[in-house]
Amino acid sequence: MPRPLSNVAIIGMGPVGLATGLAFALEGHDVVGLDTDTKRVESIRRGQPPFYEPALKEILRDGLESGSLRATTHVGKAVEQADFIFVCVGTPARPDGYMDDSFIRRAATDIVNALPEGRRPITVIKSTVLPGTTEGVIRPILNASGRALSLAVNPEFLREGRALEDSRYPDRLILGVEDEAAAKRLRQFYAHVRCPVLETDLRTAEAIKYGTNAFLATKVAYANEMANLCQVFRVDSDRVLEGVALDARIDPKFLVPGVGFGGSCFPKDLKALVAAAKVEGKPSVLFEAVLRQNDAQYRRAIELLREELGELRGKRIALLGLAFKGGTDDVRESRAIPIAKDLLAEGAEVVGYDPVAMEGFHQLVPDVRLAKSVRAALAEADACILQADWKEFEDLEGRDFVLTMRTPIVVDGRRILTPARMIGVTYRRIG
Ligand code: UGA
Repeated sequence: MPRPLSNVAIIGMGPVGLATGLAFALEGHDVVGLDTDTKRVESIRRGQPPFYEPALKEILRDGLESGSLRATTHVGKAVEQADFIFVCVGTPARPDGYMDDSFIRRAATDIVNALPEGRRPITVIKSTVLPGTTEGVIRPILNASGRALSLAVNPEFLREGRALEDSRYPDRLILGVEDEAAAKRLRQFYAHVRCPVLETDLRTAEAIKYGTNAFLATKVAYANEMANLCQVFRVDSDRVLEGVALDARIDPKFLVPGVGFGGSCFPKDLKALVAAAKVEGKPSVLFEAVLRQNDAQYRRAIELLREELGELRGKRIALLGLAFKGGTDDVRESRAIPIAKDLLAEGAEVVGYDPVAMEGFHQLVPDVRLAKSVRAALAEADACILQADWKEFEDLEGRDFVLTMRTPIVVDGRRILTPARMIGVTYRRIG
């Protein structure tokens, strides 16, 4: 029996919304994406993704050509036919760290105002929201319309740089539902996905998302703390963590030490948890410590530079990788930002390079001079910090540094270079 196809509205066409919408379009659903940002919508309509994701451009163009994905700024057009409305708007951190729910409130208000009489879509919250938000904030807005509208929570676990792949082939589906009817419709909608499915209530689904990011961020902070201690004990942290991960209970993923985690998710979600716990009078000792560990970790890269170079004033430092990790142009909370700012404050000259994130980085740290290639960034540099794990950096070897730099000192902040190939280089890594 052919699978029933649905009309889907996506509210918010950021990295999550666009990848999710395209994944649904590729399954044959009819998808209309809404964003209030006219420029973003125009760019999507032209087949130009507003941010970098591998293979996104081709798939976006196919979706537009076949008509399975459309983009609009008109909420009425997005929801008029919808069977499912996926809310994918951002929930950034307020200055006090607490989750800012203004976009999600606005999305809910726009949906109820625009929904035609008689339409009964399921509104599915994909945005990361603190436990209780769907019931406490979104439910009252939908109820004010006087209609019984069904709500569900289906958190996303997409990694930037692999967002399409993760949307299409998730490792699990969390369906937070209020009733069997919604559960059944969502199960049917996701029938093509082969992975474990866990059905929960709304709050639990919301908490699973925070639980996951908090665990992964804690794991990275643990790896960093352990690597720092290994340096104190003069043991190789690679071997130590390799041995640790041989324990059947410890997975080796997310145990790579470096300059710390960045991005639009880990820092924001941990801050929201810490702020929410404080509001409830139950401060989170662990997650506060994870954030503190991470805030300080980038300094290790600068300490290593100072050990090799002494005074940094007047030195030229190449900073390779400006995005928060390889594979994305996202510079939010990138560790390249505090590294560059500290180096500049210490009187060094910083020359940055990234395959796709230079424009965004320049807006945040305009005093960093940008180079057009790795080679140009390394030219005449006194030292280099490698900050993001871009594939194109992995193949660099000793002579790439020796032939271009004034002094070939390399601090590998992501452990992606091969030490045995660093011939002629003063090679340092964290841990
Ligand atoms: C993260 C989660 O991995 C996704 O599952 C989740 O959906 C997403 O947040 C979100 O909440 O939307 P992302 O922010 O794209 O995805 O990045 P990750 O690949 O998780 O990396 C986060 C940071 O940790 C990066 O700065 C990375 O360099 C760093 N990291 C990661 C390490 O320093 N060491 C590691 O071993 C792994």
